[in-house]
Amino acid sequence: MQRLANKRIVLGVTGGIAAYKSAELVRLLKKAGADVHVVMTRGGREFITPLTLQALSGNPVHTDLLDPAAEAAMGHIELARWADLVLVAPATADCIARLATGQADDLLTTLCLATNAPIALAPAMNQAMYRDPATQANLATLRARGVHLFGPAEGAQACGDTGPGRMLEPVDIAASAAGLFQSGLLAGVRVLVTAGPTREAIDPVRYITNHSSGKMGYAIAEAAAAAGARVTLVSGPVRLACPERVTRIDVTSARQMHEAVLAQAGDCDIFIGTAAVADYAPVECATQKIKKTEGNDELVIRLKKNPDIIGEVAALARKPFTVGFAAETHDVLAYGRDKLARKRLDMIVANDVSNERIGFNSDSNAVTVIWADGERVLPEASKHTIARHLVALVAERFKR
Ligand code: PMT
Repeated sequence: MQRLANKRIVLGVTGGIAAYKSAELVRLLKKAGADVHVVMTRGGREFITPLTLQALSGNPVHTDLLDPAAEAAMGHIELARWADLVLVAPATADCIARLATGQADDLLTTLCLATNAPIALAPAMNQAMYRDPATQANLATLRARGVHLFGPAEGAQACGDTGPGRMLEPVDIAASAAGLFQSGLLAGVRVLVTAGPTREAIDPVRYITNHSSGKMGYAIAEAAAAAGARVTLVSGPVRLACPERVTRIDVTSARQMHEAVLAQAGDCDIFIGTAAVADYAPVECATQKIKKTEGNDELVIRLKKNPDIIGEVAALARKPFTVGFAAETHDVLAYGRDKLARKRLDMIVANDVSNERIGFNSDSNAVTVIWADGERVLPEASKHTIARHLVALVAERFKR
């Protein structure tokens, strides 16, 4: 349970008889050191009062999506960002169906859509409802999206039936929640991450860049921080907020990224190069805007190679555990293995960027992580899920 210390948990309570056990769950989470904010649906409030959960959690209970007072204190988006975990216990068949179809008609479903944190559900319902193909299909959809399912247990039910659908006991839910946190994995380890594109100036108003949004690198920085690492993020120009507990250094060009990374690399234990660094930059940046010239349909811009940032990090005398990404449109694994060896990396993440659904500027990814004597496929999932699995793999190899 130590892993729950200082973790921020949003506990969703929906309308099932098992809601009375949520009080005990809040008590256990608090005892383990977590900060708990409870969100209750209308159904949940029929079974247990907000006052009880407020007293136990020590925080106001959130009930309404459109409540100006609540929004002024901690709005639903703020709450979604605040959470390290959104845990819904009990999760009724109705709540599961609404989450599976991406509805956002109350505070809890909206928050689940808005959060980047892992989501875990403790299903609780009548055994026939649980066995129904509709519920099973909804659970399969959520599982495929990376939602964690705790239980249900089997046994005697409040309605007199016997079978699967009982909510797990609070102590088991709290233990499962603790198991999701990798806080021990990289505790105290210094991690340096690069993210986003670089911009290579042609003149004062134009530049060469690429489609990187920074989402993959930011998700990795966030996952490493959640795993207990001290994280520095060197970021190209992106439209993302800095993850909590991460120190960000903003850069624009590959040369600036090179300088910032090498200034930090000697003091880091793990380096993860997610940035899409421009391989080439204009030989010179014109001091004034380049004008169109009459009678000349071509403009030639001479490019020179940028420094290979990750190659230099991997060549340091005190080399951090170095993880690269290989963004490829064909022969993805072969090019990935080649870069692993050529750049003397400890691990490479081969990323097929020919598929628009994954890779550049999307919310999902699917990669193969390759190291000297092994590899692991991480199938399509949100970049946050991929990041958490990658951080676990990195931690495992780093500690050997
Ligand atoms: O930012 P997103 O929109 O979320 O997209 C994520 C991503 C597709 C950018 C990311 O998953 C990814 O694949 N990043 C690597 C992109 C890339 O530049 O790959 P590459 O094969 O060109 O470079 C190989 C490795 O060398 C990378 O780790 C890169 O950071 C590094 N490199 C490249 C050139 C250079 N001059 N210096 C470097 O350090």
